[in-house]
Amino acid sequence: MLLNTVLLCVLLVLFSASPVSPQTRDTAGKEKDLDIYSFHIKSTVSSRYAMTVITSRVANRANESREVLFRVELPKNAFISKFSMTIDGQVYHGVVKKKEEAQTQYDQAVSRGQSAGLVSSVGRTLEEFQTSVTVAALSKVTFELTYEELLKRKLGQYQLLIKARPTQVVKDFKIEVRVYEQQGIQFLKTEGSLATGDRASALSKNMTEKEAVVQFTPSRELQQCAECGEAGLNGDLLITYDVNRPQSKGEIQVYNGYFVHYFAPTGLPRIPKNVVFIIDQSGSMHGQKITQTREALLKILGDIPAEDHFGLISFDDRLIHWKDHLVPANEENLSAARKFVKSIEDRGATDINGALLEGVKMLNRFKESHPQKGTASILILLTDGDPTAGVTDIRQIQRNIKEAISRRYTLYCLGFGYDVNYDFLEKMALENEGLARRIYTDSDAALQLQGFYEEVATPLLLDIQVTYKGVSNLTQTRFGQYYNGSEIVVCGMVTDNNLEAFTAEVNAVTKDDEVVYHTVPEEIGMSELMKMYIFEMYMQRLWAYLTVQQLMEKMVLLTGEDQAHVKEQALNLALKYSFVTPLTSMVVTKPTGEDQVAHKPKEGKKTDFDSSAAGAAGSSGAFGVGGGGYGVPGLPGVPGLPGLPGLPGLPGPPGPPGRPGLGGVGYGYMAIPSPPRFGSPPRLMPVRPPLGGRYSVQMGQTQDSDVSSLMESDGDAADYDMDKMAKLVPSLPRPTFSSPAQRLLLPVRGSSPSPGPGPLPLCFDLGSTDPVRLLDDSSTGVVITAVPQLVGFRSITIQRERDWSILVQINTITMRTGSFSWTDFPSTMQGSGVLIQRQDRELQVTLGGLTINILLHHQQGLDFLWPDIKNLPASHNASGLMGRLQVDYTLRQTGGRSAELNILGHSVPASRVSAPDYRDSSKPTVDCWLFPHKSVLQ
Ligand SMILES: *[C@@H]1O[C@H](CO)[C@@H](O)[C@H](O)[C@H]1NC(C)=O
Ligand SMILES: *[C@@H]1O[C@H](CO)[C@@H](O)[C@H](O)[C@H]1NC(C)=O
Ligand SMILES: *[C@@H]1O[C@H](CO)[C@@H](O)[C@H](O)[C@H]1NC(C)=O
Ligand SMILES: *[C@@H]1O[C@H](CO)[C@@H](O)[C@H](O)[C@H]1NC(C)=O
Ligand SMILES: *[C@@H]1O[C@H](CO)[C@@H](O)[C@H](O)[C@H]1NC(C)=O
Ligand SMILES: *[C@@H]1O[C@H](CO)[C@@H](O)[C@H](O)[C@H]1NC(C)=O
Repeated sequence: MLLNTVLLCVLLVLFSASPVSPQTRDTAGKEKDLDIYSFHIKSTVSSRYAMTVITSRVANRANESREVLFRVELPKNAFISKFSMTIDGQVYHGVVKKKEEAQTQYDQAVSRGQSAGLVSSVGRTLEEFQTSVTVAALSKVTFELTYEELLKRKLGQYQLLIKARPTQVVKDFKIEVRVYEQQGIQFLKTEGSLATGDRASALSKNMTEKEAVVQFTPSRELQQCAECGEAGLNGDLLITYDVNRPQSKGEIQVYNGYFVHYFAPTGLPRIPKNVVFIIDQSGSMHGQKITQTREALLKILGDIPAEDHFGLISFDDRLIHWKDHLVPANEENLSAARKFVKSIEDRGATDINGALLEGVKMLNRFKESHPQKGTASILILLTDGDPTAGVTDIRQIQRNIKEAISRRYTLYCLGFGYDVNYDFLEKMALENEGLARRIYTDSDAALQLQGFYEEVATPLLLDIQVTYKGVSNLTQTRFGQYYNGSEIVVCGMVTDNNLEAFTAEVNAVTKDDEVVYHTVPEEIGMSELMKMYIFEMYMQRLWAYLTVQQLMEKMVLLTGEDQAHVKEQALNLALKYSFVTPLTSMVVTKPTGEDQVAHKPKEGKKTDFDSSAAGAAGSSGAFGVGGGGYGVPGLPGVPGLPGLPGLPGLPGPPGPPGRPGLGGVGYGYMAIPSPPRFGSPPRLMPVRPPLGGRYSVQMGQTQDSDVSSLMESDGDAADYDMDKMAKLVPSLPRPTFSSPAQRLLLPVRGSSPSPGPGPLPLCFDLGSTDPVRLLDDSSTGVVITAVPQLVGFRSITIQRERDWSILVQINTITMRTGSFSWTDFPSTMQGSGVLIQRQDRELQVTLGGLTINILLHHQQGLDFLWPDIKNLPASHNASGLMGRLQVDYTLRQTGGRSAELNILGHSVPASRVSAPDYRDSSKPTVDCWLFPHKSVLQ
């Protein structure tokens, strides 16, 4: 970083000597080749079942083909069910296939260096779908994505979250949510960043008894908010509502042979709880986690009703009881418990088995002394790691706990952070009628813990059994508890569509009694209004959605043939309804024949950058950058700035001793800033201090051919009539250089290291998103290829002959031995003569004298990779775009910003532009000479 800053200063000095101020040159922001002229999100909710369609229409107004990116976020609970791209009237549909089949296509795509993964997990509740397609000059593309989900009632409400980030100001931007509830809508609220501030004026809400329509249609001005600027809106709209429940016995809707039974009785007395909190206090809970856990527990203890009983165990490799029995939640006991909580300190290993068994024993003892019915017994385990003490075999732990609990108690497992084995916790919870939840390491972790407790704080019914006559293909009908604010949903088919024979009965235990509810099914007549709500299919799809979800949970609990059978059922349904699930994937074949695959990301795999991890890993910032620099053999020495605080053990090979100077910057590339919109990718350029060699600048009088002015568009033409555009474009000045679809780099040998007129780095356009060869070195057998995208690169592959390779993508790093998310990748990995080190968002690969850094950048909502070759082996014999250590050039300036460049025996025009250095996470800006590389390099 320091080195780059020093370099930047030098460049700035150079700039100020030039006649034109660099600030005025930044015209790239004015280009608007790719225009999202329409962006619609339409959500239709029919009796809690939500289908959302996102449609984005993009025009390529450029004179040549461009890559267009489509990227949206959707809830994790949703299944993608449809995707299409329409280009020139031709529709390309995503096809849902068995995951293994799609995997084959995925593997093939990966082996070709194409980044084929379309969906990744982002944050707590969302996942991201992302694809791109190359669109010909003056053509349009329409993307359409559909996803479906059943809104789950929590704490008395349903929530529909819509996330909108079109990445630019859109002429026709519209979000429309229609909610139809047969039971009637009790209230409906709109929240989220799109519904607040100035933007609220673009929001309208109409409500009748059973229907609500929410529209959000922001003008261009509203989309250009202060914080978002040209990038347009990036926000969410959260619709929260509940339905009327005049009768507490539930509602059965029947349509077209399918039924859905909603059961959420109100007005019941709460059932007292016997709850044991089992808190991991092992060493890994150190710091914020243990602080937040204490904070949450104190709050929870404040909310426990007096009629409940509770127990507290904290554990590491030992068990620490507060009391070895449950106590009533009276003020005296609660305040003693608070004292205990405040004393919980992190230390030691993790004996999950011992702690859970002890919790079960406490409940057993309590039940013996308090034999009354009508109490709910609950164990809540909070842990942040794998079992490391006592019994550590997770299968054995699962068996032990299941046997000890024997379906008498409910176990909830809260996994704190990403070091937990979430599958283990989930299976153990499901086996004991509970569920697992992740607590995200973040500033609000204490609130997450409390929020979870609140959901289970008020049991109203126990041992719920729903029994029907005259139906088949039912979803789950037995439930351990029903909590206030939640809802029980059962779907099925009505045999022969005969309502006469259809009866429903719910048996359950309340605080004082056993109760039976009878519910009469109600066939829904199809009103005109309801036709707008896809009623014809929603109930059937709801049934399929719930069945697939529950079968998948069941799979977790089964093994062998039983599991295979359930898997088969889930798979067939998912295929039939074209749901992208953990068992199925969607293959999207682009017009070029390239396959991309949408896999459903698995919960428990961390793919985003969780704040604590980033903080832990990234303290020293970029690593290795400029560390010592490297000497160019045969050149006067480059001592380098004395080793920057790079990663220990990763110093660049020191250069031969020589004059003290500015050297040591190493060699790498920079990128020109890309304005926050499509179609304006970065320019890559080399950064190297002058080192000596041929270099000259001649001032001339030729006219100033300004590359950037050629890229300006015709302003505000909001109407994308392609014929009109086609007429318009040829009248623009003809660009001397290819368009900035991708701009690459060339290392330059300079003349003198002292400030003053010296050589600027060179940069050039890649001009396509086809895979490129960055390096092919016959001395080491290493080949580096990369796939560019709109901004930066989406994947970089390093391959050493046939024996070793690594594929680095935006979300994952894949080697023969396995696939990692960026954050899961270890900080050091060594073997096969390769050393890989990762620090935060930088990966450094060293093999056979070659060192390459790969940076993962995040800018304006886009992620991209950036390669930076730090060192080549002394005896290298390399080709490829980055295969040259440096080149010499001579320059005859023909105008303030234009010049005639002589490079590698070719004479080409060049134009002075500016660029940020993407080798550095701070992306400082420098100048470079932009030249057409095709005539020179290949
Ligand atoms: C709301 O209702 C009014 C009057 O019926 C109508 O003019 C308006 O277009 C409606 N708005 C929406 C968003 O449906
Ligand atoms: C259940 O929740 C509702 C509001 O969400 C509240 O009015 C009611 O008192 C709660 N019932 C019990 C038993 O706490
Ligand atoms: C907890 O409450 C019970 C019943 O009031 C009482 O007997 C017991 O002493 C209390 N325990 C503590 C530690 O305060
Ligand atoms: C519904 O259940 C019947 C048997 O009860 C079975 O034959 C049929 O295949 C099931 N239908 C679906 C769509 O699963
Ligand atoms: C646009 O493309 C057409 C046809 O290829 C070409 O004749 C024209 O010169 C191009 N215009 C520019 C500005 O490059
Ligand atoms: C360099 O590589 C090329 C092709 O990869 C090969 O033809 C040539 O012999 C190599 N030169 C040396 C000195 O190894």
